[in-house]
Amino acid sequence: MTQPYSIAVLPGDGIGPEVVGCALEVLDAAEARYGFRTERSEVAAGANRYLETGELFDAVDARLRDKDAILFGSMGDPRVAPGILERGFILEMRQRFQQAANVRPVRLYPGVPTPIAGLTPERCEMVIVRENTEGAYVGRGSTVHAGTPNAVAMQESLNTRAGIERVVDFSFRLALGRRRRLTLCHKTNILVAAGQLWQEVVEDLASLYPEVEVDYVHVDAMCFHLPLAPERFDVVVTDNLFGDIITDLGAVIQGGLGVATSANLNLDGSAPSMFEAIHGSAPDIAGKGWANPSGAVLSLALMLGHLGEGEAARAVEAATVEVLGGLPALAGAEMGATTAEVGTRIAELVRSGEADASLVPDSLLGTLAALPDSRR
Ligand code: IPM
Ligand code: MG
Repeated sequence: MTQPYSIAVLPGDGIGPEVVGCALEVLDAAEARYGFRTERSEVAAGANRYLETGELFDAVDARLRDKDAILFGSMGDPRVAPGILERGFILEMRQRFQQAANVRPVRLYPGVPTPIAGLTPERCEMVIVRENTEGAYVGRGSTVHAGTPNAVAMQESLNTRAGIERVVDFSFRLALGRRRRLTLCHKTNILVAAGQLWQEVVEDLASLYPEVEVDYVHVDAMCFHLPLAPERFDVVVTDNLFGDIITDLGAVIQGGLGVATSANLNLDGSAPSMFEAIHGSAPDIAGKGWANPSGAVLSLALMLGHLGEGEAARAVEAATVEVLGGLPALAGAEMGATTAEVGTRIAELVRSGEADASLVPDSLLGTLAALPDSRR
């Protein structure tokens, strides 16, 4: 019997524990069906822990570092001032574990309602790769004369050639296994210094990947093209802040934040990668059973693809899409089933092996599984 994968599970705050509970039930089913094993350690972190002990990422770093992967729920709580958990935990993990590429698929799944009239699943199948450790997210800046009419605030955006290179190179390799089109999204006409460096790196690396067609779109124009002409995009690579913003727009196009998912990939095997839905902790609906667990379950699919369990990953994705397509609404009381019930339906389909695989193109998960150098 092969070694079990060691997984850290961080349910976190709000709806995090509910949706991660569903992902773990689906993981049980995938293990039973596909014959691999995981050893899971649950790590308490988030608002309660912080309020009781003052602990942030530092306190769990050593317990996470040796794991094969991290499954993450969500973090954030109205009792904790904005920024403390986000900066002190989520960004700290992305930076310390060098989770350089934030991979966010934007796919419209069959049967899932989109607010974009006339959009069909065939036209919306892209991956946005967000640089995940630099840019404005380094949190450097200063304020002078704070609280006076002469207040001055300076906020820095850090862009290193090495940081850009690793995420652009990853994006080229991702594109190679897909439709072979890479779009750089930036604002080179205004952020000239950073924009030039990004463009230079893309141009330099393009010569190593002659099969990939390279394209450029300004971030404001991206907000126009993303909803109206998503078929233009295969892999999009972009800076941290732009990526944060356009992937929320991507989530809207694909039916809402409940469906959108992400992988925070460490690309050199030096620390574990982390997998999470892109929604927040949604404290207003926590405990009601109203949250859609699909984003979290799909993050499990990304994790399985990353670990090299491509077949299980595709089955989890197909089962999720089949259940999603049958829901009368994507969240809330109108969803017609509780969070846990949706999770159980997905798990049953995975366990029986009856999910309709034709519902999902396998390109993304297949490609992630085929990038072994980013695996631990
Ligand atoms: C995201 C979130 C985070 C970010 C927050 C919670 C720190 O919005 O993952 O997109 O800004 O990156
Ligand atoms: Mg965001």
